[in-house]
Amino acid sequence: MPVLRSAFIALSKNRTLRSFCENTRFGRRMSSRFVAGMEIGDALRVAEALNQQGMLVTLDSLGESVSSEVEAHSAAEIYHQLLDSIERNKVNANISVKLTQMGLELSPALAEGIAESLATHAHSKGSFLRIDMEDSSLTQVTLDIVRRLNARAELKGSIGIVIQSYLYRSQADIEQLIAEGIRVRLCKGAYKEPPEVAFPAKADVDKNYIRLSKMLLESPIYHGLATHDEAMIAAAKAFAKEHGIEPSHFEFQMLYGVRRDLQRRLVGEGYNVRVYVPFGREWYPYFMRRLAERPANVIFLAKNFFRS
Ligand code: FDA
Repeated sequence: MPVLRSAFIALSKNRTLRSFCENTRFGRRMSSRFVAGMEIGDALRVAEALNQQGMLVTLDSLGESVSSEVEAHSAAEIYHQLLDSIERNKVNANISVKLTQMGLELSPALAEGIAESLATHAHSKGSFLRIDMEDSSLTQVTLDIVRRLNARAELKGSIGIVIQSYLYRSQADIEQLIAEGIRVRLCKGAYKEPPEVAFPAKADVDKNYIRLSKMLLESPIYHGLATHDEAMIAAAKAFAKEHGIEPSHFEFQMLYGVRRDLQRRLVGEGYNVRVYVPFGREWYPYFMRRLAERPANVIFLAKNFFRS
């Protein structure tokens, strides 16, 4: 399985296949299980349907690693429109943003400026900006930007971050983030990382996930536990019960199209569940990372494709 994971992560960077998939009807049909659609309207329709099922939503306008300042600003513009549409349509949703889509690799100052304007806009609408975490070469700069923005009185609590349990550094990062009152989404991590920075064995990633989720649950801040792993979820539920932590103090987060049965079950049990809903034309790298997590999805998608 690690071989297949690496193969899909390598494929996620293949430009020819990407262009073929994103620009054909065949490709778009394949992606529809994990991607809400191409336009803001598609994302809002999906979000409304999820709200009706008692779920919260975070919306992701797909795209990463832009190659010009103009592209970064147009990516940001979609998010500004999204924040207005969320308010106009009274959807219970916030936004998730990747800093490389906001120009981080061109200039950290550019990405920080855009993140600041999005956080300000989100704050003015009573919404929230979550900065997704990308590969480990960007961990420090992403943390620095989020910490600087959250330190500003007018943005406090309007911006949050993601921490990955596969990184050795994550426990120290979480201690600092909790001390500064920053909301964390904890996930296992979706990129291919070397053993110098990340646990190579899945058992260690899982053990660390449980250790870090306990730190988050015990803190006074509202955090998100992002996982589809029933063992992680059971451990969090048991820890919360044992320590008298109310279900309203945290949320579980899952990806659109993944373990919908589990999402519904948790809502039925009284837990907060937020679904991460991606939309847009640049879905290919996101889609490939989902296949990397569970190569059996290829068979599942193929079956559904030929059935319909
Ligand atoms: P794990 O991979 O161990 O899977 C446990 C079980 O969940 C599997 O056995 C299967 O049943 C199910 N499952 C998991 N993935 C599936 C899939 N794709 N299709 C079908 N079933 C699947 N990563 C990152 O590096 N930066 C980020 O910012 C984010 N953001 C983020 C937000 C949200 C809301 C979620 C849920 C996840 C992320 N991730 C992420 C991705 C995360 O790091 C991780 O790669 C996936 O969530 C898979 O890990 P699990 O915790 O689900 O466990």
